[in-house]
Amino acid sequence: LAFSTSSQVQAPTNVKNITVFGSGLMGAGIVQVAAQNGFQVTMVDLNEAALKRGQDIIGSSLKRVAKKAHPEDAAKQKELIEKTMANVKTSTDSEAASKDADLIIEAIVENLETKQKLFSLLDKAAPEHALFCSNTSSLPIGDIAKATKRGDRFGGLHFFNPVPQMKLVEVIRTEQTSQDSFDSLLDVCNRMKKTPVSCKDTPGFIVNRLLVPYMMESLRIVERGEASPKDIDVAMKLGAGFPMGPFELADFVGLDTMKFIVDGWRKEGKIDENLVAPVKLLDDLVAEGNFGRKSGKGFYEYN
Ligand code: CAA
Ligand code: NAD
Repeated sequence: LAFSTSSQVQAPTNVKNITVFGSGLMGAGIVQVAAQNGFQVTMVDLNEAALKRGQDIIGSSLKRVAKKAHPEDAAKQKELIEKTMANVKTSTDSEAASKDADLIIEAIVENLETKQKLFSLLDKAAPEHALFCSNTSSLPIGDIAKATKRGDRFGGLHFFNPVPQMKLVEVIRTEQTSQDSFDSLLDVCNRMKKTPVSCKDTPGFIVNRLLVPYMMESLRIVERGEASPKDIDVAMKLGAGFPMGPFELADFVGLDTMKFIVDGWRKEGKIDENLVAPVKLLDDLVAEGNFGRKSGKGFYEYN
């Protein structure tokens, strides 16, 4: 696997068609936000059942958005929902779904080999000009891009959960990402009404680089018996103005995801290991299958 440095294909300056891989929590949110803002979007997943789950996520989120936008006007709410959904197509055929793409955003499982396998296929199926992006939380963008011959048209677009609510997108440029590609990605973020920030291809980029060690230290405070999760959550909400405390946030992000991120970073060795040292409390919860909100129990219980 190697970067092609010879390619000088112009990245699209006016992205219209976006293909999103993965119709899970993040993929569905990205599809929704793109469609709401006038892009033609194709949502791809492995099977119809997964696509249906994605459509349901979009459906219930759009209802909230429509109600907020037009609180007293049911007709306008309906119009917003229908107009958005008219911009969304679905597919289980990865190659066919990429044929007309100007931009591909990948939000599938957090596994380097799975992502590389997908991009290697798409590199052959998608138009030469198409820009490729990953929404990975913790993997190096450059490692994913190595599966393609378009390192100059490859970057990171890192959205935040819940995508329709969170205004930030981190735009990641590797050493190979061309200025055209980077400019085009910034333009897409602006047209999705998100605020882009730029970061190099480093572990956790900006937000997770700060949030994950902060959440790990919160766990250590509990493990040392210094304060309870509830009191730490109240403290950070009322004392630091965070919308969620670190334990509410850890349950929201997923304890399995958090563990996956810190284990990966430790192995990679590019970040101070004390920041991501294992915490037994986290490892035990994950081993017991308590992943947070998604499994019904983490630090708190959900029904
Ligand atoms: N679409 C989908 N879900 C929505 C939504 C929308 N438009 N609006 C709200 N929600 C969800 C919330 O997730 C939450 O879920 P439940 O229904 O299961 O309770 C609920 O709706 C709460 O919504 P409220 O309207 O009561 O609350 P709110 O609108 O005041 O704030 C919040 C909700 C935006 C999530 C806020 O609490 C917040 O900003 N929390 C911090 C979120 C955060 O830090 N996210 C980043 C996580 S890190 C990450 O994403 C990166 C990574 O790589 C792991
Ligand atoms: P998820 O498990 O909810 O969804 C992943 C989806 O990808 C599933 O529906 C799965 O069937 C599908 N999929 C797997 N392989 C596929 C393939 N080859 N082609 C098409 N679809 C495929 O995951 P998620 O939480 O939405 O996370 C997706 C990505 O976004 C990950 O890389 C994750 O690190 C990143 N991310 C997650 C969060 C978060 O808070 N959950 C935040 C930011 C970034």
